[in-house]
Amino acid sequence: MAADDVKRYIKGLNNLSTLPALLGRIIAAANDENASPDDFHKLVSFDQALAQRVLRYANSALLGHSGQIKDIDQAIMFLGTDRIRSIAIGMSVLDVFPSRTGFNIQNLWVHSYEVAYLAAVLSERVSITQPQECFLAGLLHDVGRVVLYTMDSKKFLKIETTDTMLEQETAVFGCTHGEAGGWFAESIGLPHEIISTIRYHHHPSVVQEGREIASVISLAEALSRQISPHIEDDGIWTREHDAILLELSLTQSDISSVVEKFAEVRPEIDNFFPAKEP
Ligand SMILES: [Fe+2]
Ligand SMILES: [Fe+2]
Repeated sequence: MAADDVKRYIKGLNNLSTLPALLGRIIAAANDENASPDDFHKLVSFDQALAQRVLRYANSALLGHSGQIKDIDQAIMFLGTDRIRSIAIGMSVLDVFPSRTGFNIQNLWVHSYEVAYLAAVLSERVSITQPQECFLAGLLHDVGRVVLYTMDSKKFLKIETTDTMLEQETAVFGCTHGEAGGWFAESIGLPHEIISTIRYHHHPSVVQEGREIASVISLAEALSRQISPHIEDDGIWTREHDAILLELSLTQSDISSVVEKFAEVRPEIDNFFPAKEP
């Protein structure tokens, strides 16, 4: 299998309208300067499951409005259209890929939410980054793994999440999950920084412009494996992460307080998912 096959597969995902129409409309509204809060209200309310998840997130202790936000109107008022846009895009992209047997996609989404939460907390310490951008990039950082999985689940499942994971992916699919995720993000019209963050989240040092978001996501991914390891985690701590700490002027005490804050909000993540069937 070669990288071109993966690109063709991603193109096919769009052509076959596998992508929910709602996601297309949310992205269009996000890119439209004239879109009003009312437009976002209509779009988010259109899908009950999405509306509920947006409300749960709006009430997260992470954002400081716990329990105060009762409906989408209030969520838009408290959080602003930028945040609502990021949340809605991230969550509806996750819905594109149905869960299947054989590989626990739900665990991969848990990992994605953990990275998103950690990235949002980390971004408070890195003033040049925006929490909502970090949250969105965190939610979608591993979308390439889902692309590769849905393309050929048997081959994907043979790849082990060890320090040679990216080499294994390239040997099997002709590209890494970062590259596949970057092409996917490009195909649905996500902003440039999000695309390059997804593409390079395992090697943020190669990013020229807007490297900070990629660095934050990479760090969040590595921290998530240390804090709450799952089989679906792929955040292996490398020397690059030590360099990121230096580059972003993060001290060990910054990391400890990020980990502490994350521990407070971590239980919220399970609420995003229906209980597992016995
Ligand atoms: Fe990854
Ligand atoms: Fe990851």
